[in-house]
Amino acid sequence: MTRVLSCIQPTGDVHLGNYLGALRNWVSGQHQADVFHGIVDLHALTITDQPHVLGERTLHLAAVLFAVGLDPNKATVFVQSHVPEHNQLGWVMECLVSYGELSRMTQFKDKSAKREAEFVSAGLFTYPALQAADILLYDADEVPVGDDQRQHVEITRDIAVRFNSRFGETFVIPRAVTPKVGARVMDLQQPTSKMSKSSDGDAGIIYLLEDPSSIAKKFKRAVTDSENEVRYDRNNKPGVSNLLDILSACTGETPESLASKYTQYGSLKTDTGDAVVATLTPIRERASELLQDKAELARLLAVGADRARSVAMKTLSRAYDAIGLLRP
Ligand code: TYM
Repeated sequence: MTRVLSCIQPTGDVHLGNYLGALRNWVSGQHQADVFHGIVDLHALTITDQPHVLGERTLHLAAVLFAVGLDPNKATVFVQSHVPEHNQLGWVMECLVSYGELSRMTQFKDKSAKREAEFVSAGLFTYPALQAADILLYDADEVPVGDDQRQHVEITRDIAVRFNSRFGETFVIPRAVTPKVGARVMDLQQPTSKMSKSSDGDAGIIYLLEDPSSIAKKFKRAVTDSENEVRYDRNNKPGVSNLLDILSACTGETPESLASKYTQYGSLKTDTGDAVVATLTPIRERASELLQDKAELARLLAVGADRARSVAMKTLSRAYDAIGLLRP
């Protein structure tokens, strides 16, 4: 059976980009594959400086993951810091990736530039090594992610190939899987930048648990262009094409065929807002129900951590043996 692994950070609230680019595929994947999904709190630590926030965000994110449809009987949903093998293999990965390779990571360049006046942790730089450990610990064949994570999956492949050739066949070589539409949802106010938890302001971001009237307002104010033609052309008409992509992801129709149905931006904006509200309403309702019982969420995460550890321990042991570390 195909093994799938993908993770999300508990930083900021989950947005439409996370959902269309990744979470939706996680849910459909659980019916065909053996799937592992982590809430990567240790990754979030790379940019966290306040005490006592990550735990609550982690629980909140767990509610969202179950609310979008991950079934705890099918999917293993766990918290990264509950599975110490991530840190242990993470160090091994750091020793198998070069300074030069890490320096080329777009996410590091973007995030460190945005934090220019703030503390840039070494963890932010070595982040892809921990991500490689997340993936390789589970012998994942597939990693369902949005477009922005492709580079991190590529470097994971490079590390795995390097390990296997130095120390012998140990790791499965994973591949990134991105959806046909929704792999790169753009900010509604700045349609040339991806929708991101770390954007300035939130007028261009649609949150998964956002109130329907606020969602509708944000779509009405979405930036388009000064022409008046509805055409799917991501390079020259990024705002309109982003709306068409989002509408396509919600309805299943192709962006090109949707474009042919509209002559005005106004109705495209309204319909896209309505389609997003219809998609998100059941998720919002389910999440608020789940959040009423935090003890149950914590129990589900404990079950997930046990299942995750039983796999991760074996892989870590295999890696240590391949290297030839003296075992206790
Ligand atoms: P994170 O937490 O930023 O995002 C979670 C998932 O959402 C996708 N995504 C998007 N997809 C489409 N359009 C967007 N605007 C958009 N923004 C985010 C991301 O591609 C991702 O799939 N480094 C990862 C977390 C991670 C991970 C892993 C992922 C840690 N270890 C192992 C896969 C496997 C991250 O920061 O994702």
